[in-house]
Amino acid sequence: MAPPPSSSYIITVFLLLSLLSHIAFTSSNPNTITLPLSPLLIKPHSSDSDPFHSLKFAASASLTRAHHLKHRNNNSPSVATTPAYPKSYGGYSIDLNLGTPPQTSPFVLDTGSSLVWFPCTSRYLCSHCNFPNIDTTKIPTFIPKNSSTAKLLGCRNPKCGYIFGSDVQFRCPQCKPESQNCSLTCPAYIIQYGLGSTAGFLLLDNLNFPGKTVPQFLVGCSILSIRQPSGIAGFGRGQESLPSQMNLKRFSYCLVSHRFDDTPQSSDLVLQISSTGDTKTNGLSYTPFRSNPSTNNPAFKEYYYLTLRKVIVGGKDVKIPYTFLEPGSDGNGGTIVDSGSTFTFMERPVYNLVAQEFVKQLEKNYSRAEDAETQSGLSPCFNISGVKTVTFPELTFKFKGGAKMTQPLQNYFSLVGDAEVVCLTVVSDGGAGPPKTTGPAIILGNYQQQNFYIEYDLENERFGFGPRSCRRKA
Ligand SMILES: *[C@@H]1O[C@H](CO)[C@@H](O)[C@H](O)[C@H]1NC(C)=O
Ligand SMILES: *[C@@H]1O[C@H](CO)[C@@H](O)[C@H](O)[C@H]1NC(C)=O
Ligand SMILES: *[C@@H]1O[C@H](CO)[C@@H](O)[C@H](O)[C@H]1NC(C)=O
Ligand SMILES: *[C@@H]1O[C@H](CO)[C@@H](O)[C@H](O)[C@H]1NC(C)=O
Repeated sequence: MAPPPSSSYIITVFLLLSLLSHIAFTSSNPNTITLPLSPLLIKPHSSDSDPFHSLKFAASASLTRAHHLKHRNNNSPSVATTPAYPKSYGGYSIDLNLGTPPQTSPFVLDTGSSLVWFPCTSRYLCSHCNFPNIDTTKIPTFIPKNSSTAKLLGCRNPKCGYIFGSDVQFRCPQCKPESQNCSLTCPAYIIQYGLGSTAGFLLLDNLNFPGKTVPQFLVGCSILSIRQPSGIAGFGRGQESLPSQMNLKRFSYCLVSHRFDDTPQSSDLVLQISSTGDTKTNGLSYTPFRSNPSTNNPAFKEYYYLTLRKVIVGGKDVKIPYTFLEPGSDGNGGTIVDSGSTFTFMERPVYNLVAQEFVKQLEKNYSRAEDAETQSGLSPCFNISGVKTVTFPELTFKFKGGAKMTQPLQNYFSLVGDAEVVCLTVVSDGGAGPPKTTGPAIILGNYQQQNFYIEYDLENERFGFGPRSCRRKA
């Protein structure tokens, strides 16, 4: 038999279905904090037997998320046409311990936002939060009065400025400018997430890790949320994010595959506290982070922009117009990496080019499964019924500096239904209307980060990645 072409995967259907090997990856460096990171499973209707539902749900959730990231701080309700799902599904969760004595709360790891907030007080109200597997009467909440170190944030505290800007008079409207003695608290916050939102007041409290306490950590105590059943740990670039407040030098994670029906597995989130200079981690390729040139939209400053140079399908460069690959002076365009998005999003013209290349290379050998496309919300889908060995083009993202991210097949083609059909797990929006980019044109979602070791090297302003099996030792 001829050797397989290097630009494609030849894999048996059995292997496609099989689980990953159990290779452990842990760190024992004393300058790091390691936390378990667990995938939040996508289970839209546990009683529902429709095999397409999980993928459809994940596709919709990915689109809702993309709309949110792209349209943040725009006043138009631009997300009205996408279904309402919590962004938490299809994400990854960590537990953090706040307060004295420590109270443990779960948080969705989110590199696309910056505030760390949690459901708070015994009167926490979550509206439209009746998702499967969530009992709204049992959402764990933080009780500030049980913590001897919890304090309300004062409006003059510089940390209030992280959220409300540097104008003290704006933050403390009732205080006389000359008064040194203003006991007003920082204003209440309201955060919009697509169709969901959360609101509350800002607290300072101890953030506790084994062997390390971060005093006066700024955290949002939400008392009212819509469609947000869990707290969110903002790992974005804003001053209020966990990495900024802890002055982390790096953080890294390895995302175990979140097969939609799998039993929960966890992997590690590693927080690097002290400098390691410009040491590169073994086995990782690096590409520099870039900043968005626009000052119009503060949200763009919170995102981790990368410079994607090429998308390669089966050895063939997909010719993506430059305007999508680089953020322009208006801030639109470019690529971000986001832990809170499930499937990678591509602006319609980019998506069409990539999808067409897959179709071109695959349609000779497999028939399109159009019914599956309608039912799953993903496209293109192919019928692999009766095929013992499927051959698929390789998908590679090539970044500035030459770093190449070659995707494992299960990261970009997912089996759906009764395993006769595979669909491309990349999403795009409606497509009708003039091609106008708002916000990032490409959002690298967590599905395409599975089984990579991913490092955000903040000290050296670069993004590192390398293939890795992410499961921890049982
Ligand atoms: C808070 O304290 C009260 C009274 O001491 C106790 O009943 C309750 O369980 C505590 N709640 C939490 C979340 O620790
Ligand atoms: C601060 O204000 C409180 C009440 O508004 C007042 O009783 C107190 O004397 C003030 N302290 C100073 C140092 O001005
Ligand atoms: C796939 O193709 C086979 C025959 O080639 C057909 O019987 C089956 O219904 C197709 N499945 C789907 C989901 O289209
Ligand atoms: C399609 O099938 C032909 C012949 O069976 C094979 O040579 C080729 O590699 C296949 N291409 C893909 C993309 O599966």
